[in-house]
Amino acid sequence: MSLLTARGVSKNFGALAALSGVDLTLNEGEILGVIGPNGSGKTTLFNCMTGIHKPSAGRVEFEGRDITGKPTHGICRAGLVKTSQIVQPFTGMSVLENVLVGGLYGKGLSLHHARDEAMAILEKVGLAEVAAKPAGSITVAMRRRLELARCLATGPKVILLDENMAGLTPTEIDSVLELLRQLNAEGLSLVVVEHIMQAVMGISQRVMVLDYGEKIAEDAPAAVVADKRVIEAYLGEEYA
Ligand SMILES: Nc1ncnc2c1ncn2[C@@H]1O[C@H](COP(=O)(O)OP(=O)(O)OP(=O)(O)O)[C@@H](O)[C@H]1O
Ligand SMILES: [Mg+2]
Repeated sequence: MSLLTARGVSKNFGALAALSGVDLTLNEGEILGVIGPNGSGKTTLFNCMTGIHKPSAGRVEFEGRDITGKPTHGICRAGLVKTSQIVQPFTGMSVLENVLVGGLYGKGLSLHHARDEAMAILEKVGLAEVAAKPAGSITVAMRRRLELARCLATGPKVILLDENMAGLTPTEIDSVLELLRQLNAEGLSLVVVEHIMQAVMGISQRVMVLDYGEKIAEDAPAAVVADKRVIEAYLGEEYA
């Protein structure tokens, strides 16, 4: 069953068509990869699906309900959240408090309950040891995990990950991939925007490709990397 659907979504910024009639389908339990050159519209697509931007045209549905242009907090409570390409923790608050916000605000839990859940999530993402540290003091790799933890605290059905592995070492990437596979096995559906091909190809069941705001390909990872248009627009001959 399709959990998240975008139909013909367009977004204009003044004269710039950042997205033109893009369709996306995420099935329940699936991991969908989204790739494309810088400026091709990946973040804009995520923003249009999570209420950060109102699409100029088209429709977004979550669990069969129209969520086009609905406020982000409502979409979050329905179970659809995204990590930010630029990590934005509340730097003055502790790691634990950052995750608490997700549970208290996003899920409406009591403080006591939210604290227990937040600690369990920090254990899961490997941040329990730094729970009391200010979020501004932890490493980039840890901040990326914190983004994920804050999403998890809202009790989502779908997480959209916007370059959550950028700037990580290959070992750190492998460990995030393992975590994502585990979350997926537990029932979470994911859309993964990533420039790191090893990551996106290794984890996605299907990959769609954006170029200048248009979808130019969508297929199994092996077929996408062999696609002429994708090689020309993004991957380059060397990759092929
Ligand atoms: N708020 C905005 N106002 C004006 N233009 C914008 C805005 N957000 C994005 N754009 C433009 O829309 C286009 C798509 O940008 P977007 O950030 O979605 O690309 P992207 O695929 O996420 O790129 P990257 O891989 O670099 O993150 C770009 O030309 C960008 O400059
Ligand atoms: Mg982006």
